[in-house]
Amino acid sequence: MVGRLDARVAVITGAGSGIGRASALRFAEEGAALVLNDIQPQGLEDTLKTVVAAGGRVHGLPGDVTTREVNDALATAAVEQFGGLDIFFCNAGGARPTPMLETSDDEYRHQIALNLDSVWLGATSALKVMTRQERGVILATTSGAGLGAVDGLPAYGAAKAGVINLMRSVAFEFGALGIRANAIAPGPMATPGLLAWLDTLPGGPEAYGAQVPLGRLGTGEEIAEAAVFLASDESRYVSGAVLPVDGAIHSTLATPKS
Ligand SMILES: NC(=O)c1ccc[n+]([C@@H]2O[C@H](COP(=O)([O-])OP(=O)(O)OC[C@H]3O[C@@H](n4cnc5c(N)ncnc54)[C@H](O)[C@@H]3O)[C@@H](O)[C@H]2O)c1
Repeated sequence: MVGRLDARVAVITGAGSGIGRASALRFAEEGAALVLNDIQPQGLEDTLKTVVAAGGRVHGLPGDVTTREVNDALATAAVEQFGGLDIFFCNAGGARPTPMLETSDDEYRHQIALNLDSVWLGATSALKVMTRQERGVILATTSGAGLGAVDGLPAYGAAKAGVINLMRSVAFEFGALGIRANAIAPGPMATPGLLAWLDTLPGGPEAYGAQVPLGRLGTGEEIAEAAVFLASDESRYVSGAVLPVDGAIHSTLATPKS
C-alpha cells in the first residue's frame, strides 16, 4: 500500500506526549522516516519504542527547542540519518495559565520562548536545508488561543498569534522555492498537557467539552490527521494558512443562555 508520506523525512518536536506523539505514529504509518525530539527523555523513548514496534524508521534527539543548537541538530540529523528534510513540524509548546497581572516578566518570557522562539528557530533551521533542496513543508502548532483571547492565557496567546503570522511570512518569502508553511490551531484536545489544567477546574474536562459546538474535547489523533494532510501533496496548493481543528469553537461568540 502506498503511504501518503512515503519517501518523506519529517522532524517532529514535542513528540514525547500528546499531539506530537500521535503525529509521530500517524506520520510513520503513512511511510515517513522520522527524527523525533522532546525535552523529556522518557516520553521521547516511549514514543520511539512505539514507532519502532509499528515498523517505523526513527531517530530520537532529546533537547530543548528554545535553543538554536537543538533545532540545527534536528535538521542536520534528518539529512544525515535519512538523506533529506521534507517536513519540519514545530509542535512543542504549552501553557501555564496565569492571569495577566499575576504573570511575572520571567514567566511571560518563558511562554514566548517556548511557544514562539521555538518556532522561529525551528523554521529557520529547517529553511537552511530546505532552501538548498528547493522543497519542503514547515508546520507549526498554534492554538485557538492564538485566534482569540482565552482566559488566563495572555502570554501564550500572544506567542501563538505570532506563530500564525510567522508561518505566513515563511509561505510568502519561500513559496517561489517550492516551500510551504502552515499552522494548525487545535481547540481543546484531551492530551496530557491540557488535562493537567482542566483537572484543576470546577467541572473538569466534561464542562469544557460541553462548550464545544461538536460537544466534546478533541484528541491528539485528530490533529495528527490534519498534520498528515498539510504535510502531504494533498495540500500542495495550501500555504500561509491556519487550519482550526477544534469542533468549531473558534467560530462561536458568547451566546445568551436560553
Ligand atoms: N492540547 C490542547 O488542547 C492544545 C490546544 C492548542 C494548542 N496546543 C499546542 O499543541 C502542542 C502540543 O501540546 P500537547 O497538548 O500535545 O501537550 P503535551 O504537554 O501533552 O505535549 C507537549 C510536549 O512538548 C514537550 N516540550 C515542552 N517543552 C519543550 C521544549 N522546550 N523542547 C522540547 N520539547 C518540549 C513536552 O515535554 C511534551 O512532551 C503545543 O504547542 C500546545 O501549545 C495544544
